[in-house]
Amino acid sequence: MNKQPIGIFDSGLGGLTVWREVHRLLPNEDMIYLADSRNAPYGEKSKQDIIDLCFKNTEYLLSKGCKLIVVACNTASTNAVAELRAHYSIPFIRIQPAIKPAALQTKTKSIGILATKGTLTSELFYENTKKFAQGVTVVEQVGNGIVALMEAGKMHSEEMELLLKKYLYPMLEMKVDHVVLGCTHYPFLIPQIKEIIGYQVAVLDTGEPVARQTRNILTQENLLNETESPGKQTFYVNKNPEVFQSFLDKFELNFKAEEIDF
Ligand code: SIN
Repeated sequence: MNKQPIGIFDSGLGGLTVWREVHRLLPNEDMIYLADSRNAPYGEKSKQDIIDLCFKNTEYLLSKGCKLIVVACNTASTNAVAELRAHYSIPFIRIQPAIKPAALQTKTKSIGILATKGTLTSELFYENTKKFAQGVTVVEQVGNGIVALMEAGKMHSEEMELLLKKYLYPMLEMKVDHVVLGCTHYPFLIPQIKEIIGYQVAVLDTGEPVARQTRNILTQENLLNETESPGKQTFYVNKNPEVFQSFLDKFELNFKAEEIDF
């Protein structure tokens, strides 16, 4: 039994799609979410810059007493979790694109992945694709510009629609029947994505498996908070708090984000 909070960070608002699943599964856990929107997007930064930002985020969450950290950003997870685990003794939960289930389920033997450059060029992504997607065509697409538009509050804009069409149409030409969302910002776009690719193409994200993994690790490490009362939810954001708040409001849970100088 451990009442310390779970920490969760992302380059901005995308990790809220992961927070929602963890909160749904573990409603009694206190959670502290850190949105490093000031440094978004991470996806176009160098590996070393991503690692440095992840250490900074971790230090912040540790200063708040977190017992475990969910790295709710694919770019950060694929590029920095090994370094974080080597340096700190608390558990880190990593998020990875759902290549394995997509490769197992595809009938057309063709799947698409939309992710950042940082994720698609990572060693971990390369290894996973080699291991799990043998005999399957993987259509890789860098989602340049998507995160920046979302963090600027332009999720429903003509620019976004044009970008999504530009990135998704080539996947359809390659007959993909699964599109893997390899960035935690993208699940907010699922309705727009489905409008473009059609409802017969499956869209996969990883919020739910990450929540299950978080519960498993807390259980294994004897870190679960077993109190009956609802956990306290805290959200820190270091840029555009109104945009972050508008995404938080989508969950209709009445939580308020706090702006911090970080
Ligand atoms: C980004 O900051 O570029 C996207 C975050 C992610 O990869 O999930």
